[in-house]
Amino acid sequence: MTSPALDALFDQDAGSLAPTGGGAEPFRRLHERYADELASLSARLAAKRRAILDGGWSADFSDREGELLYITVREARPDVVVEISPCHGYSTNYILAALSSNGGGVVHSYELTAEVDGVPTEEVIRGNLLADLPGDALRVVVGDARAQEIPPAGVLLIDSAHEDHFAAWAFETLIPRAGYVLQHDLVVSSRDHYEPKGWRVGPRESSFVLEALRRSGRTFFSAAAGARHLHGRDAHLVPRFPATERAILYRGHQPSAGTRTLCARVLAAHDARRRALEGVRPSRLEAPAGDDDFLARCIHATLLADLGYTGAELRSLLDETRPSPSHELSSGELVYYFHYLHHAGFWRELARALLAGPRCANPGFARTLKRTRLRDALGL
Ligand SMILES: C[S@@+](CC[C@H](N)C(=O)[O-])C[C@H]1O[C@@H](n2cnc3c(N)ncnc32)[C@H](O)[C@@H]1O
Repeated sequence: MTSPALDALFDQDAGSLAPTGGGAEPFRRLHERYADELASLSARLAAKRRAILDGGWSADFSDREGELLYITVREARPDVVVEISPCHGYSTNYILAALSSNGGGVVHSYELTAEVDGVPTEEVIRGNLLADLPGDALRVVVGDARAQEIPPAGVLLIDSAHEDHFAAWAFETLIPRAGYVLQHDLVVSSRDHYEPKGWRVGPRESSFVLEALRRSGRTFFSAAAGARHLHGRDAHLVPRFPATERAILYRGHQPSAGTRTLCARVLAAHDARRRALEGVRPSRLEAPAGDDDFLARCIHATLLADLGYTGAELRSLLDETRPSPSHELSSGELVYYFHYLHHAGFWRELARALLAGPRCANPGFARTLKRTRLRDALGL
């Protein structure tokens, strides 16, 4: 089902990561609508989270992300929720609690790990659920999610492998069949701007997803912006894990041609890396024909550098893999671009990019990224 109240939240731009402010009031109203349910749930989940951690398990979902997940399932009233991945079942609690309040629905949870410290994963997850939740509404599937038949989801939670190729798989297979998508570890709030989570380690899931959304003309809502919108109005809730908010929420959709190009390139690069590890390394690695996409060329050039093609083949890409002066890089592209310059060892080009340009839709983030990369380069 669609929810106008959820749809009113999506005001954050995927290129600049700036919210327009249009989602603030709708989010406060939604939070208020579920205030009583959240108050009771937060108290019970605080105790449950402590028990999960005391049992030696992990539970990594911040308070406001859990609330956003709960609100989304309450509002969308899905027959089917898909969860990739539950780990030890902490996020599963929020989903089952919302399904229980909805009065129906099932959740299919896909987890790679077969057992934890000798205990079968499904047993761990079920043992970590609040006692009054409808356990029969939970289907646990153990194994690589990419090898499973996954049903279309009214609500899809993605908190799994944080690599760009895993996200590309989700954009090709799951997101076109989903109502709402809540994806973890994507956007964090910094002092005067928002930035892709974990960009310091290079382009992974966050930079990819933000760019994939931008190319498909999609806006989103981040839990980080939600935290600012609330201005402490949730102080009555019992803290469970008051960590930095990282999740975003958006509508499932058919990706645009530009997004599909990006998915294909990231998946091809992943495949080439995997084959190289198995000893298959062709003497030349051609970029797929007809490729005039700046970001796709960055990804290809990074691949060449990673696989050790350091000669003329890589150098010939340099001129083509430079943003034109009129090109304003999105937040995601910026991460890919600096990663490419560093990995390809184009130091003069990197110095030029650090000191001047390129233009970026998210100036606050561009300043932070350049300052950090400059410090890294100087060993400070
Ligand atoms: C960050 S944890 C999930 C945390 C969980 N949502 C919670 O509330 O604590 C990510 C999980 O994704 C699982 N995972 C990674 N790659 C996967 C794959 N290809 N298929 C299924 N699960 C995967 C990992 O085993 C890990 O348990």
